[in-house]
Amino acid sequence: MKILGLCGSLRSGSLNAAVLRSAVDLTIPPRELVVEPDLGRLPFFNADVEETALPSTVAELRSAVGASDGLLIVTPEYAHGTSGVLKNALEWMVGGGETADKPVALASASPAVTGGDHARAWLAQTLTVMGAQVIPQDLRIPQATRKIADGRVTDEPTLAALRDLLDDLAHAVVRAREENDTFAS
Ligand SMILES: Cc1cc2nc3c(=O)[nH]c(=O)nc-3n(C[C@H](O)[C@H](O)[C@H](O)COP(=O)(O)O)c2cc1C
Repeated sequence: MKILGLCGSLRSGSLNAAVLRSAVDLTIPPRELVVEPDLGRLPFFNADVEETALPSTVAELRSAVGASDGLLIVTPEYAHGTSGVLKNALEWMVGGGETADKPVALASASPAVTGGDHARAWLAQTLTVMGAQVIPQDLRIPQATRKIADGRVTDEPTLAALRDLLDDLAHAVVRAREENDTFAS
């Protein structure tokens, strides 16, 4: 089972990137979690460019999303939305269609007490329009600076919740496969 991790922050000391790193630590075969290295290398979405000369970075991202069984998206909340970096990546993915029926789990870490509630709601709406299956379970990590250190989640309850989210995503992938098999037969 291949899960692709996407991070909405480009910051070197990103709390959200730390959550993804810890998710990789928690993932053991037969599950695999590969993190997309850098959404910042994508150019800004431009429909003219999409039609005439699709950038290789976009083709690579679409291919990675298409080859994955599910997505784990971890993003900061900026001004009650998601980050522009992640929104831009999603815009490039609309035309590829790779998110159709793709199980997606959402997580957000914030130093604030709210833990990214608005970003979660915003993203769920956008991804649903893109045909993805956003799983109902999510992970919001408020006061994240107290729970993350040295690029990893250190808070045990948060690690347990992250483990549960990965399990929930894996179960959604299995269910999606079963539904596809039923549909195909
Ligand atoms: C421009 C800007 C807007 C922000 N807006 C919010 C917000 O709406 N809600 C929130 O919880 N945190 C907000 N924050 C704080 C971020 O959650 C915090 O900077 C976080 O550490 C960014 O994620 P990262 O550590 O993964 O880079 C904002 C930060 C910036 C720089």
